[in-house]
Amino acid sequence: MGVFASTEDPGSTGHEQVVFCQDKQSGLKAIIGIYSTALGPALGGTRFYPYASEDDALADVLDLSRGMAYKNALAGLDLGGGKAVIWGDPEQIKSEALLRAYGRFVESLAGRYYTACDVGTYVADMDVIARETSYVTGRSVEHGGAGDSSILTAWGVFQGMRAAAEHVWGTPSLAGRRVGVAGLGKVGKYLTGHLLDDGAEVVATDVNPKALEWVRATHPQVALVDDAAALVAADIDVYAPCALGGALNDDTVPALRAKVVAGAANNQLAHPGIEKLLADRGVLYAPDYVVNAGGVIQVADEIEGFNFDRAKLRATRIYDTTREILRLADDEGVPPAVAADRLAERRMAEVGRLRTIHLR
Ligand SMILES: NC(=O)c1ccc[n+]([C@@H]2O[C@H](COP(=O)([O-])OP(=O)(O)OC[C@H]3O[C@@H](n4cnc5c(N)ncnc54)[C@H](O)[C@@H]3O)[C@@H](O)[C@H]2O)c1
Repeated sequence: MGVFASTEDPGSTGHEQVVFCQDKQSGLKAIIGIYSTALGPALGGTRFYPYASEDDALADVLDLSRGMAYKNALAGLDLGGGKAVIWGDPEQIKSEALLRAYGRFVESLAGRYYTACDVGTYVADMDVIARETSYVTGRSVEHGGAGDSSILTAWGVFQGMRAAAEHVWGTPSLAGRRVGVAGLGKVGKYLTGHLLDDGAEVVATDVNPKALEWVRATHPQVALVDDAAALVAADIDVYAPCALGGALNDDTVPALRAKVVAGAANNQLAHPGIEKLLADRGVLYAPDYVVNAGGVIQVADEIEGFNFDRAKLRATRIYDTTREILRLADDEGVPPAVAADRLAERRMAEVGRLRTIHLR
């Protein structure tokens, strides 16, 4: 394994293992971060991205792998948290040799880390990686994979939103509520369908004209606004960020009229402290990593041999988990994001501890 220089100190972040991988001929430079295997092998996708520096790549993998440990813990999975980054522009350097070299490094961890898709990697890439390792999921249907994870992601977000609605309005039904969906991509489209089926009014926005065309043709009753800022300021009951991270920030939170935030986007809170700002304004935030876990539930199910009904049942439980978090937040007088972290840490500690019972 090649080691390229780093100025970060992973030892100070609580990660179990950080592996630098290099294959000069194919141009592969990857970092695999394993935050915790307390609950089982670490699962998390591979991000292929042209980071400005090695330090940026390392910071991202440390952050993302820690996030996966919390997400997998609250999704009820027997899986720990990990993530990998490949440093480089996928448009320029992605090749069969590079992906297979990466697959061999994943294999060398002997099952401590399972990889899957993330930004810059796709189902077809997982099929290539799988030629070198069995520790890969999120594969194509023709290779026994589960296919599009956004179906269950949207279903899980809908369940989390129902739990939040119940907490605020006493009923999980979204009938008659106005829901603002920012981003009509893979997840936003399915979410819009669930909301309309439940009797909600949907107001939406997207920067991509094709997404707008789709919604005009498929759901003409959906009202459209110019941009995310207009959506935040609109008279909506629920805000569902389904595009990029950082949707909840110092500009949007003061302008927000919704009482509930529940959406698919990762890392919605722009910085620490935003969760308190939301709570102070009386906005109930259903933590992103709790409600958007349907995708990881799907790829985790694939490890067992994919069964859609079983995976959907697991994603439906996001309703119960969100309820539990909101109750805990009230009981402990903390924002839901803090309660979610506490619940995840509790499960990792309580269930992880069982490994100390000697078996043979
Ligand atoms: N797909 C999954 O299974 C999954 C799982 C967990 C989390 N997520 C997260 O959910 C979010 C959406 O994922 P996706 O798979 O639907 O992605 P996507 O790329 O298919 O859709 C994102 C949509 O947002 C739109 N968009 C981008 N910037 C925008 C802006 N400023 N204002 C309004 N719209 C904008 C894009 O045009 C696109 O239509 C991402 O943050 C993703 O990380 C996705």
